Amino acid sequence: MTELLRPDAAGLARAADLLGGGGLVAFATETVYGLGADAANGRAVAAIFAAKGRPHFNPLICHYADAQAAFDDVEATPAARRLAAAFWPGPLSLVLRRRVACPVALLAGAGLETLAVRVPAHADALALLRALGRPVAAPSANRSGQVSPTNAAHVLAGLSGRIDAVLDSGPCQVGVESTVLDVTGARPVLLRPGGVTREAIVAVVGAIDRAAPPAVALAGGTLRSPGLLASHYAPALPVRLQAREAAADEALLAFGPAPEGAGTVFQLSAACDLAEAAANLFAGLRTLDEAGRRLGLRGIAVMPVPEEGLGLAINDRLQRAAAPRG
Ligand code: TXA
Ligand code: MG
Repeated sequence: MTELLRPDAAGLARAADLLGGGGLVAFATETVYGLGADAANGRAVAAIFAAKGRPHFNPLICHYADAQAAFDDVEATPAARRLAAAFWPGPLSLVLRRRVACPVALLAGAGLETLAVRVPAHADALALLRALGRPVAAPSANRSGQVSPTNAAHVLAGLSGRIDAVLDSGPCQVGVESTVLDVTGARPVLLRPGGVTREAIVAVVGAIDRAAPPAVALAGGTLRSPGLLASHYAPALPVRLQAREAAADEALLAFGPAPEGAGTVFQLSAACDLAEAAANLFAGLRTLDEAGRRLGLRGIAVMPVPEEGLGLAINDRLQRAAAPRG
């Protein structure tokens, strides 16, 4: 049985108790719901992988109540300190070297000598972290390969019965995961675009590199090197990118005015606002996937989203949703 908890004093205390006892609790952050476990408890961290059905051990992000607590566990570089001051609490995860005394289970970092750390900008998440008094390792609270959850119902749809509780704090405000930035070296490397834009990061630390850009041609929607793109965030229906129109048997994920005659439409943002589109993205994919399968449609067509600001994170998730299934 998975308990549904309200984020009041009693619910937060129950959630912290469950985590402290090695349990799994899903909780809201500003980005998506995370599936949390006590990061120092290796068995609890292993249970995250089992509940998600993750085929192999990807490193997890560790969540902290404040920057001081995070930098007690990892070695902060000057760039990391500037970024933390600018963006924490917020949707930025910093990859840094573990300190020798770091109590986080090695499995949480998949055995790497680095650890991704962040301070989430969500009152309930911060209250939970303070109540537990230890870092919480948390990937997105979905079954492996599926669309990330942005409300408690999404979490239950995938994980009900497999985890101890969900703390229901309503919908997430940002809607795409945190930006993951490796700041161990001289020049930061963008590992995953996310809720803090590349432009905002460059304004604080100067030029950054980008690791392994997605091997997808943005124009035309054809895959150049499909093998380089792991399928992820994937609805059951096939996803077609860069659509200017939808066929009669396709659902349409619209960004801006939808073309005439499109039948089953989910609007990400009629006004082409990227923040609004990011917040709606995963719910839109889920809604069209359900509706499309119910109506016997062949796939989901997605209108183009500009590759700037939060558009980098949105396009990254869409490209993974459209990647060939493994
Ligand atoms: O917004 C988010 O980041 C959400 C919420 C719950 O905080 N969490 C999340 O976790 O998206 P997850 O596990 O779905 O994604 C973690 C990402 C993966 O791409 C992983 O490879 C990368 O962070 N990562 C974690 N630790 C790393 C490390 N030590 N070095 C390089 N990449 C790392
Ligand atoms: Mg995930």
